[in-house]
Amino acid sequence: MKILLLGKNGQVGRELQRSLAPLGTVVALGSKDERWPSDFTQPQSLRQTVEALRPQVIVNAAAYTAVDRAESEPEQARRVNATAPGVLAEAAESCGAWLVHYSTDYVFDGSGTRAWTESDAPAPLNVYGQTKLEGEQQVQARCRRHLILRTSWVYGRHGGNFIRSVLRLAAEREELRFVSDQIGAPTGADLIADVTAHLLRSVTRSEIGTSEPAGIYHLAAAGETNWYAYAAYILETVRAHPRAPALRARRLDPIPSQAYPTAARRPLNSRLDTRKIQQRFDLALPDWGEGVRRLLEDWLQPPVIPHS
Ligand SMILES: NC(=O)c1ccc[n+]([C@@H]2O[C@H](COP(=O)([O-])OP(=O)(O)OC[C@H]3O[C@@H](n4cnc5c(N)ncnc54)[C@H](OP(=O)(O)O)[C@@H]3O)[C@@H](O)[C@H]2O)c1
Repeated sequence: MKILLLGKNGQVGRELQRSLAPLGTVVALGSKDERWPSDFTQPQSLRQTVEALRPQVIVNAAAYTAVDRAESEPEQARRVNATAPGVLAEAAESCGAWLVHYSTDYVFDGSGTRAWTESDAPAPLNVYGQTKLEGEQQVQARCRRHLILRTSWVYGRHGGNFIRSVLRLAAEREELRFVSDQIGAPTGADLIADVTAHLLRSVTRSEIGTSEPAGIYHLAAAGETNWYAYAAYILETVRAHPRAPALRARRLDPIPSQAYPTAARRPLNSRLDTRKIQQRFDLALPDWGEGVRRLLEDWLQPPVIPHS
């Protein structure tokens, strides 16, 4: 099976390079690939790449993810998050390929306390969420064999994310404050990549030639937390480790979102109901804390080159 992976350098893209490898031949492209057009700000050029490679599967992990910057660059965000996925979807449809595309909890307005299901009406609060929603709509409309995976609060080994920010701030400052009224589930890029490979194995093997499992699925780790409790968990886990680095942070305080103004409004309720993906694909999603702990333990290991 030939798989075209776009966005190979992102948090999820890096993990997909690993998880997709056993499924077939992976052509992995970053935004500046010299062999094939892969810049999402030039959406039409992506058609040429798909037509030349004719993959059976396209996995799109590229996105404009700078949530606050998107407020002042809506057109750029829209090209990358909506127009380009639409072109990819059309090209996938014409070569009969499956298209995996990622989306976000930010398509919802964050009202209420119930976990959002796939059939709930989206109502994004910010430009990023709006352009991601438009991307979903483009993909749904143009490619029958699509899997749209909405995820939340992504962290990974590579790239900038909340865990890195907490550790950096805790090394620099004595007092830290984090928002405690936004609720969601931190989700590892490794989990997202592993589940993607599982889904692709299922749709390309058993249901080959049908688009029946196509659709939107919520994919997030189990459980829930808020940014303040998440930061506390990170610091407790690091401090309990025998190789804990020196941290200056002495005090951690919860604050409401209103006390931390940002260019883009964030939803308060980012809970995603993941029953559909678990039931349809026979999966069990682990608790968010397990993945965070594993990543921290890996980072705290001494660098060792194994020898026999
Ligand atoms: N991060 C989160 O908390 C979060 C939450 C919910 C959903 N998601 C969704 O999950 C998916 C993966 O997110 P992530 O955290 O892995 O993102 P990420 O680490 O920010 O990586 C995004 C990748 O997109 C690529 N990209 C950006 N602009 C591009 C352009 N003009 N042309 C081609 N590629 C471009 C970049 O490629 P280069 O590095 O090669 O330039 C980058 O590696 C995205 O769809 C995102 O919307 C993320």
